[in-house]
Amino acid sequence: MKTLCLFGLIAASLVLPALAAGEPAVLHDKSVFVEQLLKRMTLQEKIGQLRLISIGGDMPKERLAEELTAGNVGGTFNSVTRHDNRPLQEAALRSRLQIPIFFAYDVVHGHRTIFPIGLGLASSWDMRAVATAGRIAAIEASADGLDMTFAPMVDITRDPRWGRTSEGFGEDPYLVSEIARTMVKAYQGESLGNADSLMASVKHFALYGAVEGGRDYNVVDMSPQRMHQDYLPPYRAAVDAGAGSVMVALNTINGVPASANRWLLRDLLRDDWGFSGVTISDHGAITELLRHGVAADGREAARLAIAAGLDMSMADSLYGEHLAELVGAGEVPMQTIDQAVREVLGAKYDLGLFHDPFRRIGQASDDPHDVNAESRLHRQAAREVARQSLVLLENQNQVLPLDKSARIALVGPLADSHIDMLGSWSAAGVASQTVTLRQAMQQALGTDGQLLHARGANITNDKQMVEYLNFLNWDNPEVVQDPRSAEEMIAEAVAAAERADVIVAAVGESRGMSHESSSRTSLQIPASQQALLRALKETGKPLVLVLMNGRPLNLTWAQGNADAVLETWFSGTEGGHAIADVLFGDFNPSGKSPISFPRSVGQIPTYYNHPRLGRPFTEGKPGNYTSQYFEEPNGPLYPFGYGLSYTEFSLSPPRLSAEVLSRGQRLEVSVTLKNTGERDGATVVQLYIHDEAASLVRSVKELKGFRKVWLKAGEEQQVRFDISEDELKFFDAQLEQVAEAGMFEVQVGLDSRSVQTQRFELR
Ligand code: BGC
Repeated sequence: MKTLCLFGLIAASLVLPALAAGEPAVLHDKSVFVEQLLKRMTLQEKIGQLRLISIGGDMPKERLAEELTAGNVGGTFNSVTRHDNRPLQEAALRSRLQIPIFFAYDVVHGHRTIFPIGLGLASSWDMRAVATAGRIAAIEASADGLDMTFAPMVDITRDPRWGRTSEGFGEDPYLVSEIARTMVKAYQGESLGNADSLMASVKHFALYGAVEGGRDYNVVDMSPQRMHQDYLPPYRAAVDAGAGSVMVALNTINGVPASANRWLLRDLLRDDWGFSGVTISDHGAITELLRHGVAADGREAARLAIAAGLDMSMADSLYGEHLAELVGAGEVPMQTIDQAVREVLGAKYDLGLFHDPFRRIGQASDDPHDVNAESRLHRQAAREVARQSLVLLENQNQVLPLDKSARIALVGPLADSHIDMLGSWSAAGVASQTVTLRQAMQQALGTDGQLLHARGANITNDKQMVEYLNFLNWDNPEVVQDPRSAEEMIAEAVAAAERADVIVAAVGESRGMSHESSSRTSLQIPASQQALLRALKETGKPLVLVLMNGRPLNLTWAQGNADAVLETWFSGTEGGHAIADVLFGDFNPSGKSPISFPRSVGQIPTYYNHPRLGRPFTEGKPGNYTSQYFEEPNGPLYPFGYGLSYTEFSLSPPRLSAEVLSRGQRLEVSVTLKNTGERDGATVVQLYIHDEAASLVRSVKELKGFRKVWLKAGEEQQVRFDISEDELKFFDAQLEQVAEAGMFEVQVGLDSRSVQTQRFELR
């Protein structure tokens, strides 16, 4: 049997003595090791492990060091270099039991190299691209001494008013689940103990994306069927993929805040799903139980949260203040504390921190001289992933791709805005290291063409909005106003447009407009930019819109007036290059939107997989007494799964291997995809299923498979999908997952709206 003295030289002097003081701890056996350690811990030390502390603000480093040495901290976040983390780990190792801490951070779409925001990654429908983003983020973050990321964020979003739409992967449970699985595996690597692996803390459990009215932190009220069918699958997928941690949401669920929700954290997560990792509260969420009004005081809030199964408190003092007393009074059993501590120690064990507390921090002599050195970035990968994330929504008369010898007027407040390229939650990304569209187009044009640049407008002229967006950054405001009048800026842009062959207008939102606590009542491009666009349109020159934003905007004007529309979300460090690659045809766009684009706010929600109705609207028939709004066409402007290419694709009707699927068997659906255009390119073949009659009302269609296929001009390929009973299952009235016998439709298309159908029977 190996004992502690065999577990390596690096940490031996720091970790061995205290542990070895009692029974010999067996490092190679996780549960024995954790139990032996637990036995040696005082109640105070146990509670210390349940505290996750944010560095900065009311926790300056000096005080933190004292707390660490006193054994009062389990982990920290927001400290992101080896140089900063090393002394903190050393302080933790000076504590009586020398238990290492872990270091966490919001590495959501890249760490130093920033990849496209969640919506962008999802638009790629390419799991290799998603995995690349996740793996590189883990490599970079772990090289900075980090052990855990508060990601992936897999909240299903059907309401683009919600600012955090930008962080997630869209509206569809199947697509988001695929990405959740891919991301967890990419972050965590082959083994969590590897020096370049990060533990994933999947968030926000649960249903945060369904906050009422898209207003952040609002309530969620939802039927169990909808929860299980549509909103819970991505968290489940992340858990099944081995996510070591789960972050608990800030919202209530049917009247019970997630942070105090025993059903959620114990019955569902642990008992049903078998999760055995560590649960972490969101920022200050235990104190928020007071504001939710389910706890009368801090003591009760701490009791409710720990009883519900919330292991670690994030940036919240209540566990530290009340748990000891609650245990003393017999209101919280010691076993409850022990179980939570076990999860925290288990996570550290899995991360290899007991083997080597400096596994990711390394030795000082190996620290990078400059954490932001160019050599630490992964630019090529970022460019390749970003190119896949761009969605071409319009291309009238093939105005795109542009000619590199053209004279181009590049206008708009986002054409040269470094900070906005990053998108929200940009971890350790540095704005000045991003490539803007202006820089990239200039480079691509070289001396052949000509780029005329004018800002044309501020992102917004609404003072209140600017104040809101700069709230946390007064010293270094993110939204910088051009002091010139709107008229002057527009006149300059129009003059440039008049001299040009074509206009490229980079418009949309500042990154802060699609962020936590940035809910909007309007999905319009801000008025200042609309005025610019209308003036540009007047010039009669071809107008290409490059949209940068973190949610689907209202594009009705753009659809009717722009010649081309390219949705680029916030595309990251290499975003400018990626967009220029597409604008000039060096890369054929292949992104498909992972979320529907409503025509107006009034139409929300517009998700494609809605339940069937007794009085549905039928295209081409009068709308009276059907489910629709009478002022606007029914359905979204651009459906889920939509995106154009510079080439054309044709899809044959689906062929089925049989008309009957017997339980336990498989049925093959095949289609022939052909690139009928002149360019090589990729598209996404999407497979939807519809259950024609069931014991509960079923969705009009549900995505159950997709393939991104790259074809040379003129080439064709058979694309095959397998269907089994599993793809036909749903949660019935008893919440059993069942596939009920009867007729099903298979729908195959290149978006969710234009599909071709076949039927089969499940027997
Ligand atoms: C957010 C989380 C984030 C945490 C730590 C919270 O405000 O809701 O998504 O992980 O802060 O930064």
